[in-house]
Amino acid sequence: MAGFTFSPHPVTCDGVSPAALAAAEGTPLYVYSAALIVDRYRALDAALGAYPHRVHYALKANSTLGIVRLLQSAGSAVDANSGGEVAVARRAGVDPRDIVFTGVGKTAAELEEAVCIGVGAINAESAGEVDRIDRIATARGVRARVAVRINPGIEADSHPGIVTGGPEHKFGVPIEDAGAVCRDAAGRPGLALVGVHAHVGSQLTSLDAVARTASTMARFAQDLRDAGVALEHVDLGGGLGISYDGSPALAVAEYARTLVEAVAPTGLTLLVEPGRWIVGPAGALVATVVDVKPQRDGRYFVVLDAGMSELLRPALYGARHRLERLNERSGPTVTCDVVGPICETTDVIRLGQSMPLPEVGDLLLVRDAGAYGSAMASNYNRRALPAEALVEGGAWRMIRRRQTVEDLLACES
Ligand code: LLP
Repeated sequence: MAGFTFSPHPVTCDGVSPAALAAAEGTPLYVYSAALIVDRYRALDAALGAYPHRVHYALKANSTLGIVRLLQSAGSAVDANSGGEVAVARRAGVDPRDIVFTGVGKTAAELEEAVCIGVGAINAESAGEVDRIDRIATARGVRARVAVRINPGIEADSHPGIVTGGPEHKFGVPIEDAGAVCRDAAGRPGLALVGVHAHVGSQLTSLDAVARTASTMARFAQDLRDAGVALEHVDLGGGLGISYDGSPALAVAEYARTLVEAVAPTGLTLLVEPGRWIVGPAGALVATVVDVKPQRDGRYFVVLDAGMSELLRPALYGARHRLERLNERSGPTVTCDVVGPICETTDVIRLGQSMPLPEVGDLLLVRDAGAYGSAMASNYNRRALPAEALVEGGAWRMIRRRQTVEDLLACES
């Protein structure tokens, strides 16, 4: 099995020591297993079987160029959520026809670019956007390929910050209005309506919302076709969750079977946009302990050189990522609140971690940080973005050098 091995100690990533890597490149440092990323892409692709389908990796999970190139060479298409992600995809060699372009607020310039290069589908979010795409395409004398993003009104069971399919959410066209919007799009001279799209949330860990979304969308697509609207695909978005605590998560085979069973009666190509499931477990964040101090109640603060600016998920969603020690320490197990260096009380990495007390200079590894880790890193407190290393074939190479303060100031005067 490719990826990280945590026991027995020492921790390794495909035969490479993250501790040695950190010694060479410094911390905070993201480390990824190329083999595991490719294995997971292939596992999902294989789980979808012989049914016509395409996996569009969701760049928002991690769009570091080296990772996008890796997935592109493995055969993946992409889901881009901004002009920036479209540009990264193209730099990585992704054919424009392999891009679906999603996004709740696409600018005129982003739409122009998408129409111009001829992306596989622009997932239109509203009747207004359908109209704007049609005008751009008509002015250029082309037909833009669009899908309509539908909000099916399905509340998924996940963190409230990452569910998107309920009536109160800003995403897509409410399903009640979507038939009219799709029929309108299908009749426009500048548009080819090629699909329907839905994404009801991320980190989904039960089949219920997945199954309801898939069958609702399949039925919707069939009704459209019965009304004489030709379609090519049904895009069911991303969302397949991973296990952050080691307990069993939704199995990829079951997820894939549920999607295929729902869509198969339509005969339409199935598109999926997974992000987290592909890269999440394949990446980790390595950080150095910079301070250790006792609290009044017997607990300790363990302060790292990485915090919410490197990994925002614990601060933003209360996410709990497992921690591994890269240095052996004996001694009694104590309770540690592992925190970052930022001037914010929410700047935590993991509260209440039981472990032998680390020493300043020790290394800790934060697991399952490959998705929405480096992609959500920021320069808050003028912190430079961390370096990123890709382990491949028993060796490692830097796919992103550590940012410098000079890089930050280059944009300012
Ligand atoms: N497609 C669309 C239209 C999306 O909005 C998303 C995620 C995906 C695909 C990929 O979803 P995934 O397979 O990765 O669940 N920052 C949050 C996650 C936000 C997800 C936003 N949309 C986190 O760290 O948990």
